[in-house]
Amino acid sequence: MKTFLFLLLQCFSGFIFAQVTPQIINIEGRHTFSLDGEWKSIIDPFENGYYDYRRQPLNSGYGADKDVVDKSILQEYNFSTDKSLMVPGDWNTQRAEFYYYEGTVWYRKRFDYQIKPETRQFLYFGAVNYEAIVFVNGKEIGKHEGGFTPFNFEVTGLLKKGENSVVVKVDNKRRIDGVPTLNSDWWNYGGITRNVCIVETPKTYVRDYYIQLKKGETNKVVGWAQLDGNSSKNKIITVEIPELKFKQQLHPDSSGVARFESVLKPKLWTPENPKLYTVKIYTTDEAVVDEIGFRTIATKGTQILLNGKPIFCRGISIHEEAPFGKGRACTIEDDLQLLTWAKELGCNFVRLAHYPHNEQMVRIAERMGLMVWSEIPVYWTIQWSNPATYLNAENQLSDMITRDKNRANIIIWSIANETPRSTERLNFLTKLAAKARSMDSVRLIGAAMEKEEIKPGLMTVDDELGNVLDIISFNQYVGWYDGLPAKCDSVNWVFSATKPVIISEFGGGALYNLRGGKTDRFTEDYQEDLYIRSINMLKRIPSLAGTTPWILKDFRSPRRQLSGIQDDYNRKGLLSEKGEKKRSFFVLQKWYEELKEK
Ligand code: GCU
Repeated sequence: MKTFLFLLLQCFSGFIFAQVTPQIINIEGRHTFSLDGEWKSIIDPFENGYYDYRRQPLNSGYGADKDVVDKSILQEYNFSTDKSLMVPGDWNTQRAEFYYYEGTVWYRKRFDYQIKPETRQFLYFGAVNYEAIVFVNGKEIGKHEGGFTPFNFEVTGLLKKGENSVVVKVDNKRRIDGVPTLNSDWWNYGGITRNVCIVETPKTYVRDYYIQLKKGETNKVVGWAQLDGNSSKNKIITVEIPELKFKQQLHPDSSGVARFESVLKPKLWTPENPKLYTVKIYTTDEAVVDEIGFRTIATKGTQILLNGKPIFCRGISIHEEAPFGKGRACTIEDDLQLLTWAKELGCNFVRLAHYPHNEQMVRIAERMGLMVWSEIPVYWTIQWSNPATYLNAENQLSDMITRDKNRANIIIWSIANETPRSTERLNFLTKLAAKARSMDSVRLIGAAMEKEEIKPGLMTVDDELGNVLDIISFNQYVGWYDGLPAKCDSVNWVFSATKPVIISEFGGGALYNLRGGKTDRFTEDYQEDLYIRSINMLKRIPSLAGTTPWILKDFRSPRRQLSGIQDDYNRKGLLSEKGEKKRSFFVLQKWYEELKEK
């Protein structure tokens, strides 16, 4: 019965809303027309611009973007006279009235556009948090749910010569059946938080492709390219890697997919030498250029092997929050600053928590030699038995992998964070892990599980989910949520599975420059002592293959209300939100220096 209802729901929603079109990858390598910049906005907490008083969708709501011309006609909105918001960017930190706002905000962009002959146009969003309903020239073209992954709609034939209008109803209300759900420990930044553009393609174009080393081999490159368009099957796709003197013409099959495998010996990507190759994928109508690195990633017993050699992942967790007190990180400068601090720490690894970060963050990390743990926001108490929630999580996983599958620096796809154990949760996550593997048989699959106490002083991770993961990854807060820092001295860890261990979170809070005793919470002295003792505890774990302490810098969270200390900030950062380094920064940096020399 449930399946039937689910399918019915799926058909019905599909009928009302056009589905997003398959994701176009590598936007920066394509012909685009940017819609970034100033958009008009209307705050609409009661969704008055979408529903009538009976909560039925309006025939002509704010999406129609009508001007007030005939003053005899009643119209209670007018974008053109309303205030603006900048795109990309969260609304919370742009205008005071938006700081805590959770609800609907309407965005409107008008622009002149010249339609080039023999082309198709796609409206592309890097991300919108949380739900977007999109209108082009007054026509509702579709809806997308999920705040951290890209989506695009084909708008060929909807754009017109001259002035066009795009309206987006953005709703960041948290929802119990959402991904994430109602409860999280980060600021619910709403808005069109990443870039928006029109992607211009030939009638038949290269929509997607995958080019990496064959699993477990360092001298064989495999790949495929996906054409999209009516004349796919009689197109020839050429893949070229000039520096490797590789060029091959491919003939797509009836579904527009062309595959290849070739003996090639690329210089391997490593954190010390993050080598990238220019890769060109082209037809007679277009050329898509990308920068791709080649490496192998695997586990062997309790080791993580990069290019066949054991590597220790000297990491740090990072939220996608801009430095210096701004909101969502959404510029190259924001990403560069966060990753530069990670490099200063001595990191070769970053956990981009708790959701896929913007594409530039991953690409800049790749160029800087930082391996990445990439994660979807299946966080805490998800509605495990809700089919629509599973579909949402699977869509976000699929979109994350689709976007970043050619990034050599991503070594782990993480499918969950601190999810309470249950049969429904295990089924949900087992299915998600299988989906990840079906899309990417090479990278490691992880999740931040939770610790268990075997007996006082002896800890483990005893979670059935671990059976479907390649690593034992978990968050532990001995010395913060569990006792004082001195407790670390008497705690040891044992694991039944022979797999690499990555401790995906540890740490504690400190207000920058607040000094006191080592057991005075929120002092730098406490945090420093906690890091010293935590690291000594971690050194006693033989199967430890990496760690990503929580967290690079203080970040906003509505759960952190201790006035004068937290003031809406989670203070577990090694840097303050202003970029000031705390004493614990240097404790971790010293350990990573020691590890580098080993
Ligand atoms: C959890 C959670 C984080 C949270 C952290 C904390 O482990 O994964 O998202 O911020 O604890 O309590 O600070």
